[in-house]
Amino acid sequence: MEFVLLLLISHLNFICGLIPGLTPPAGLKKKRIYHQIRNPPPEHEMNPTYWRNQAQETLKRALNLQKLNTGVAKNIILFLGDGMGIPTVTAARILKGQLESKTGEEGFLEMDKFPHVALSKTYNTNAQVPDSAGTATAYLCGVKANEGTVGVSAASVRRQCNTTFGNEVTSILKWAEDAGKSTGIVTTTRVQHATPSASYAHSVNRDWYADSDMPSEALEQGCKDIAQQLIFNIPGIEVIMGGGRKYMFPRDTPDIEYPNDWKANGTRLDGKNLVEAWKDMKKGKNAHYVWNREQLKSLDLTKIEHLLALFEHGDLQYELERNKTTDPSLEEMVTTAIRILSKNPKGFFLLVEGGRIDHGHHEGKAKMALYEAVEMDKAIGRAGSLTRDTDTLTVITADHSHVFTFGGYTFRGSNIFGLAPYLSDVDSRPFTSILYGNGPGYSLQNGERPNVSNSEIYENNYLAQSAVPLRQETHGGEDVAIFAKGPMAHLFHSVHEQNYIPHVMAYAACIGQNREHCVKFERGPCPSAAWVPIGSGAILLLLLTLLSCI
Ligand SMILES: *[C@@H]1O[C@H](CO)[C@@H](O)[C@H](O)[C@H]1NC(C)=O
Ligand SMILES: *[C@@H]1O[C@H](CO)[C@@H](O)[C@H](O)[C@H]1NC(C)=O
Ligand SMILES: *[C@@H]1O[C@H](CO)[C@@H](O)[C@H](O)[C@H]1NC(C)=O
Ligand SMILES: *[C@@H]1O[C@H](CO)[C@@H](O)[C@H](O)[C@H]1NC(C)=O
Ligand SMILES: [Zn+2]
Repeated sequence: MEFVLLLLISHLNFICGLIPGLTPPAGLKKKRIYHQIRNPPPEHEMNPTYWRNQAQETLKRALNLQKLNTGVAKNIILFLGDGMGIPTVTAARILKGQLESKTGEEGFLEMDKFPHVALSKTYNTNAQVPDSAGTATAYLCGVKANEGTVGVSAASVRRQCNTTFGNEVTSILKWAEDAGKSTGIVTTTRVQHATPSASYAHSVNRDWYADSDMPSEALEQGCKDIAQQLIFNIPGIEVIMGGGRKYMFPRDTPDIEYPNDWKANGTRLDGKNLVEAWKDMKKGKNAHYVWNREQLKSLDLTKIEHLLALFEHGDLQYELERNKTTDPSLEEMVTTAIRILSKNPKGFFLLVEGGRIDHGHHEGKAKMALYEAVEMDKAIGRAGSLTRDTDTLTVITADHSHVFTFGGYTFRGSNIFGLAPYLSDVDSRPFTSILYGNGPGYSLQNGERPNVSNSEIYENNYLAQSAVPLRQETHGGEDVAIFAKGPMAHLFHSVHEQNYIPHVMAYAACIGQNREHCVKFERGPCPSAAWVPIGSGAILLLLLTLLSCI
């Protein structure tokens, strides 16, 4: 039996000579496998029947997709993995599997199970490699925009206040509000950060969090800081959850959680207390402001109408460092949000941002980034169990990628944070599978790469090596994925411009620009010719009916 298998493997090897698992590539051939042994494939994977059955099951599901879900999306959920490029998705899938003591590659993220997948072109109108503000304007407002700007068209110039007016563009959150749906924003960053802010603000500078972040000229010209726009632009928003307390309180107000940390002080110069302003506006409603997990858990979600929850003065902690007593996980926040929002018979729009995948990568800390991605995936699974695909369109995408990669012909099941199984054939030193194109992990000691070892690479804060030294690793320019399920999810089917995304979501939900196609649903579905009896009088009836459906 073993002999036959060996024969089979060497035969396969002959045909597929470049399968990395089987033959080291030419340049590495003589290099010793110095610290790892290649395990045989899992027993069941050696049996061709396993792969054939698995593919046949997938084929069956694919054939079933011909029955498209063309219903109306009562609810829309958009999960935005900030900086979650495709290499991050794959690495997070492997990590998720390895956290369950599996090899990892064969598993499925929750998002992997979505039936429809497309690609999104992420460039900004003035940038090949985009930022999170211009991209947020695209996937929330349906209009591509300049980098650094939120909720304004490309006619606006970054940092030039007077180019705001007349160039504002509204988001799908606003369209949903206008249609009587409930709306929510959940993020692991500050709620005033680029991604969430494009849903409610119009700002020529994403960094104008509070008035203290703005030049006096901009204030004089009438531009408003993003925190203020959060409270006043769309007062109907039912759920706001994330970080960012400091932009809500007057300067020198000590933070409630970190009274001795002066960096956590309020920052506003106009003396406004925006949390109080929010409470005032919600008088007479069942509205709650909370700032820690205990308070969140004590809420009666069956009664609550409005929730403002700010768990940190700035961004939330990384999932790997989260204080599980004081701060909720993204999954907990999403659960809470859906419970509150789904009470509306007209449905809801919810934006969920896994916002710190991006931060982990910028810091060159792949482990932080990937754990954030796995946590967002958990939240996706939870959202799936709280909603139905028949009336909820769920879309997962990223704003942009990062110069994050993993390679090195690692063996099956190799720890995703581990070393490649070969030494470099140039400097004879080991290297991790995960690497960055640029960033803070660049390191030379006496002109040589460090001799990385197992004792450091598994640390939460380990900086994966990068080719170019930068304090902050940069975004990547390649396309990102769009995963979709629910009504009209099949309209994500190709390589799309990023600003197409909210057009599909709005079409599916019969809100915004594409309400007309739903008039048919309101009148009842158009009869198909097949069941209208053919007769001279019936032809006229058929014509009239069809006309009324156009
Ligand atoms: C807009 O503001 C800039 C300064 O930021 C000024 O140079 C320009 O003249 C202003 N444009 C208008 C139309 O007011
Ligand atoms: C923070 O607030 C405290 C209390 O009002 C004040 O004494 C301190 O100077 C503030 N620190 C900064 C950096 O603003
Ligand atoms: C979490 O925060 C609480 C309250 O500040 C503190 O008592 C506790 O030690 C923290 N836990 C961890 C694990 O840091
Ligand atoms: C790198 O470290 C390993 C053990 O940690 C050691 O065996 C090897 O000689 C080192 N290589 C160099 C080039 O220093
Ligand atoms: Zn970023």
